[in-house]
Amino acid sequence: MWESKARPEGAATLTVNGKTVELPVIKGSVGPDVLDIRNLYRDTGMFTYDPGFTSTGSCESQITYIDGDAGILLYRGYPIDQLAEKSSFIEVCYLLLHGELPTQEELKTFDWTIRRHTMLHDQFDQFFRGFRRDAHPMAVMVGTVGALSAFYHDSTDINDPKARTVASHRMIAKMPTIAARAYKYSAGQPFISPRNELDYASNFLRMCFAVPAEDYETNHVLARAMDRIFILHADHEQNASTSTVRLAGSSGANPFACIAAGIASLWGPAHGGANEAALNMLEEIGTVDRIPEFIRRAKDKNDPFRLMGFGHRVYKNYDPRAKVMQKTCHEVLDVLGVRDEPLLKVAMELEKIALEDEYFIEKKLYPNIDFYSGITLRAMGFPTEMFTVLFALARTVGWIAQWSEMVEDPSQRIGRPRQLFTGATERDYVPLSSR
Ligand code: SDX
Repeated sequence: MWESKARPEGAATLTVNGKTVELPVIKGSVGPDVLDIRNLYRDTGMFTYDPGFTSTGSCESQITYIDGDAGILLYRGYPIDQLAEKSSFIEVCYLLLHGELPTQEELKTFDWTIRRHTMLHDQFDQFFRGFRRDAHPMAVMVGTVGALSAFYHDSTDINDPKARTVASHRMIAKMPTIAARAYKYSAGQPFISPRNELDYASNFLRMCFAVPAEDYETNHVLARAMDRIFILHADHEQNASTSTVRLAGSSGANPFACIAAGIASLWGPAHGGANEAALNMLEEIGTVDRIPEFIRRAKDKNDPFRLMGFGHRVYKNYDPRAKVMQKTCHEVLDVLGVRDEPLLKVAMELEKIALEDEYFIEKKLYPNIDFYSGITLRAMGFPTEMFTVLFALARTVGWIAQWSEMVEDPSQRIGRPRQLFTGATERDYVPLSSR
């Protein structure tokens, strides 16, 4: 069972409306201390105000830590670059869910369990047929993942730890099967069933790219790259989609419905949709000589254009995932023999120019994980619309780990923010004849 490790550390005082109140200071293991304002409204009659939650901690968590200024990302204390280099996605799933790296026996059992939850109920495939072939695959994901709760009533009781564990395993195991079906359906190709003898990434690539007309051979370099991309996207503290999953879960909604809510939030171009938007932007720029025009537009306050794949709410330094993503991108393009991919040239020149530009330096805008992932995924054969689907596939373990932590936290309550109201004050109804 989850236990709080927050440590009270004195208090700050706030004097407002002639009243002085104490706000307890709470320390974590690393990162900024927090001011506990849970009694602020009761003691002062005032709310705090923080649209976008730039200075608000929504929960206590022990899963992922980010230091935006130092460009640090830790999963349960382990640096992302070490995990990307030395671990596997299935091992990272165990780590995020359980808090510790597994022993050999624990990993073997966990891997065996996940491999045996990859199949979908036979009737499930009918859901895909309700979509147009040209539907965006993220629309398919939101619809079909939400429908999982219609099939797995035996793992929707959030108060039963066993049901939560089974639901977690089902989500991690079935997302690749659903994501591959979303791709196959859009391509008009028959669905390919999962194979238990294949590892997680190889199984997913085979379900996407195998066809019944010929044998399929796993490219182990691409499978390793896919596995590493999944590791990089697995969790990221209280980002928009994870906060959506937590808020949905705080009402007691079942885990499948909560993950569907997370997928919906991730779809936005400011969040997980940025990898698709970044590749579309690189294609729109097209050639290196057009970069200055787009840099100018990105700086123009009257132009809504932003450099997709740049900037981050937390990272005010290089996104540590972007460095690993860049290395993986070069590896994939090398093994596919497309090293001189024109978009890579535009991306590298854009990154160089932006990192030397005063505007981007002053606003601390660096490439984020989405900047290189699009080029890599396109080289691997995925259509642009599938990029955010792959992000959702990988982030499912992070959403599930954060959801489980919230359900197990004895202090958790339904999330219900307040507001600053500036609308009409009370007034009487005016009959139609008088308007
Ligand atoms: C992800 O939260 C997470 O952890 C998300 C994520 C995860 O793993 O879950 O890391 C995944 O979503 C990565 C981010 C992907 N999004 C993009 O690449 C889209 C482009 N980036 C921007 O939309 C923006 O940088 C955000 C949304 C990522 C961050 O927005 P913030 O923190 O609200 O910052 P902001 O919009 O207030 O920008 C600060 C300033 C603004 O200028 P001023 O109003 O101060 O004059 O920087 C400017 C912005 O105009 N700015 C950009 C810019 N990003 C910010 N200008 C040009 N191009 C950009 N990309």
